[in-house]
Amino acid sequence: MEIAIIGAGVVGLATAWRAAAGGAAVALVDPEPASGASAVAAGMLAPVGELAYGEEPLLRLGLASRERYGAFVAELEELTGLGTGYRTDGLLEVAFDADDLKYLDDLRRFQESLGIPVEALTGRECRRLEPMLAPGVRGGLLAPEDGSIDPRRLAPALLDACAKAGVRLVRRRCAEVLVERGAAAGVRLDDGSAVRADRVLLAAGPWSGDLAGLPPGTVPPVRPVKGQVIRLRTRTPFLGRTTRGLVRGSSVYLVPRADGEIVVGATQEELGFDTRVTAGGIWELLRDARELLPGVTELEFAEVSAGLRPGSPDNAPIMGPTALPGLFLGTGHFRNGILLAPVSADVLTAMLLDGPVPDVARPFTPDRFSPGGTQMEAQVRR
Ligand code: GLY
Repeated sequence: MEIAIIGAGVVGLATAWRAAAGGAAVALVDPEPASGASAVAAGMLAPVGELAYGEEPLLRLGLASRERYGAFVAELEELTGLGTGYRTDGLLEVAFDADDLKYLDDLRRFQESLGIPVEALTGRECRRLEPMLAPGVRGGLLAPEDGSIDPRRLAPALLDACAKAGVRLVRRRCAEVLVERGAAAGVRLDDGSAVRADRVLLAAGPWSGDLAGLPPGTVPPVRPVKGQVIRLRTRTPFLGRTTRGLVRGSSVYLVPRADGEIVVGATQEELGFDTRVTAGGIWELLRDARELLPGVTELEFAEVSAGLRPGSPDNAPIMGPTALPGLFLGTGHFRNGILLAPVSADVLTAMLLDGPVPDVARPFTPDRFSPGGTQMEAQVRR
């Protein structure tokens, strides 16, 4: 089986590795692997901390991926000898004022109604866990099983694992998907050459909707959602675990790494393919971070960056076969691309290699956005 994967973000990389390990001949097409959202993301592994109302199926997928992470990272680190900064020290979500605390109380009830173990903490208990928190922090919730990983270490490890598994990395832009006799037959590159394949996986994040050659009804409904992120550095212990805060209704999170980096994120902006870092975006992040952790202003300012999340209409990934035989989608991971990489790789590999659609992935197949998908498939085959 020959597979062409368009896009070497963490989802494309992890799927390429798994599919090649499963016996497929995989070509991974990307002019600059791991240069999109994967290079900007903070790397929260937080299905509980990032839970939003109405997203219960996404929670189940996130929990399934978080569960896979330990074994996934152990295999990756052993194979490549590279570290990934994987941490399982929980996520603390704190409230700045009384309204924020009320929101967290409601959230806790919602989480408990779904059977998720979270601990409600007083302000003092929050500060016992994180002594740098401001004295005014009202209270919080601890999601003890959430964690984080460093995407800037994960991606190189995945690239190395791909190389070891025999994945062919094609450092060119994909110009179009080739369609022959009503089925995907590979991809044409920007130099005019072709990569022929029995299966094509479109995993190009927010660019997945812009590719030429896709028949109507197969174009994924994804859009870019900008996130600005700050990287700070500390030489002394500052934060023990990922900490999210609600500050007068607006969210900020800080993700610490063992090497002293602290990633502060992230704005959420609907501005098309704009990746400019703005004074306003950075100011809002620092303003809210300082309310929660006043000492943040003493930290070294290392970097600002902006990435584009692949947003989908229901904030959930779009994974599976399309109405064009041989064309599969693996995009739309929105705020959860890093978290969902292991489970996405497993389900996409199963689908690409003709396995059954795993139950956990059923709510996320592309046909949820195209009720006429089956008819379209019949038309394409005719
Ligand atoms: N998962 C964090 C973000 O998208 O900002």
